[in-house]
Amino acid sequence: MRLLVTGGAGFIGSNFIRHILTKYKDYKIINLDKLTYAGNLDNLKDVEKNKNYEFVKGDICDAEIVNKLAAKVDVIINFAAETHVDRSIGSPEDFIRTDIFGTYTLLEAAKENKLKFLQISTDEVYGSIEKGSFKENDRLNPSSPYSSSKAGAELLAHSYFVTFGVDVLVTRSSNNYGPYQYPEKLIPVFITNAMEDKSLPIYGDGQQVRDWIYVIDNCEAIDLVLHKGKSGEAYNIGGGNEKTNMYITKKILELTKKPESLINYVKDRPGHDRRYSVDCKKINALGWKPRYDFDKAMKETVQWYRQNKWWWEKIKTGEYKKYYIEHYHERHGLK
Ligand code: NAD
Ligand code: TYD
Repeated sequence: MRLLVTGGAGFIGSNFIRHILTKYKDYKIINLDKLTYAGNLDNLKDVEKNKNYEFVKGDICDAEIVNKLAAKVDVIINFAAETHVDRSIGSPEDFIRTDIFGTYTLLEAAKENKLKFLQISTDEVYGSIEKGSFKENDRLNPSSPYSSSKAGAELLAHSYFVTFGVDVLVTRSSNNYGPYQYPEKLIPVFITNAMEDKSLPIYGDGQQVRDWIYVIDNCEAIDLVLHKGKSGEAYNIGGGNEKTNMYITKKILELTKKPESLINYVKDRPGHDRRYSVDCKKINALGWKPRYDFDKAMKETVQWYRQNKWWWEKIKTGEYKKYYIEHYHERHGLK
C-alpha cells in the first residue's frame, strides 16, 4: 500500500508513520506537512532515511501539490489540522482554513484519483456529556471553534462518500498522550513545567474529565480501521481511562516527585467541555482494544520527557515563549 499521510510531522502522525514503517515493510509513505509551529521533523529523525519514507513540505490547502502527490498513492490519511482548543478560541481562522478547506482539498484529490480517504477526527465533535457515552450515530454537537472545524471536516468527508462514492472512513479518538506531544496540551505542558519547577495552570476547578489513550493504542486502532473499516463509517476510539484533570495533575507531580504547591488555579477556558466519553463497542467488534495500562504508560511517558529534554527544551523557547506570554498567560490571568 502507498499512503499519503498529512500532518505526519505532528504528534500522532509521527507516531503513526513509525508504527506503519515498522509493521509493514513493503508500505510506502509520503508525509505532506506544512511544518506549522506544531510540526517538527525532530519527531521523525529515526525514520528519515528509511527507503519507504518521503517527506514533502507543503500545505493541504494547496491543490497543486496535493494532486501531484495523490497521483502516487492508494490512500490519504488526514492527520493535518490545527489542533489546540485554546488557540482556536484566540484565532479561529487557521482552524477553518486548514481543518475544513484543507480537508476539502484532499477529498477532491481522493475523488479524482479514486483513493481511500481516512479522516482523523476527534471525540470532541460530540461535545460534552454528563453521564453515559456517545455512540457513533449520536448527534455532533461541538463547542469550540476547533471541534466545530473538525466536525465540519468529517461531515464533508461523509458527504463525499454519499454523493461521490469516495471510500471514506472516520476515526474519533479520545485525548492522546505519549512521546512527541507538543508542550501546549495538558500532559506534556504539565510534565515539562513540573520538570522546570514552573507552575501547573489548572483551568477552573480541575474536575473536567477526559478519556486518555496512549498514542500507540490509537495508532493501532487507526491501522485496523484503515484495513478493516467499513466504507462510510465512523469509529470511536477511547482509552477507557476517564480521569479528572486534577487526577492527571497529581499523578504527574507524583511521577516527577514535585510538590503540590506547583498547582496554580487559573481562569477557566471559555466554553470548556466538562466531560468527554465514547462508547467503543463498534471498534471492539472490529478487533481492537487498548493494550497499554494507564499507570505504566504514564510512567513511561514521564520517563520519555525526562530522557528527551533535547526535544522539548528548544521548543519551549523563542516563539513558544512569546506566544504564551502574549496570549495564554493573559487569557488565564497568569502573570
Ligand atoms: P499536532 O498539532 O501535533 O500536529 C498537527 C500537524 O499538522 C503538524 O505537523 C502541522 O505542521 C500539520 N499541519 C497543520 N496545518 C497544516 C496544513 N495546512 N497543511 C499541512 N500540514 C499541516 O496534532 P496531533 O495531536 O498529532 O493531532 C493529529 C490529528 O488527530 C488532528 O487531526 C487532530 O484533530 C486529531 N486528534 C488529536 C487528538 C489528540 O489528543 N492529540 C485526539 C483526537 C484527534
Ligand atoms: P488539552 O490537552 O488542551 O486537550 P482538549 O482541550 O482538547 O481536551 O486539555 C485537556 C484538559 O486539560 C482540558 O479540560 C483543559 C485542561 N487544561 C488545563 O487545565 N490546563 C492547561 O494548561 C491545559 C493545556 C489544559
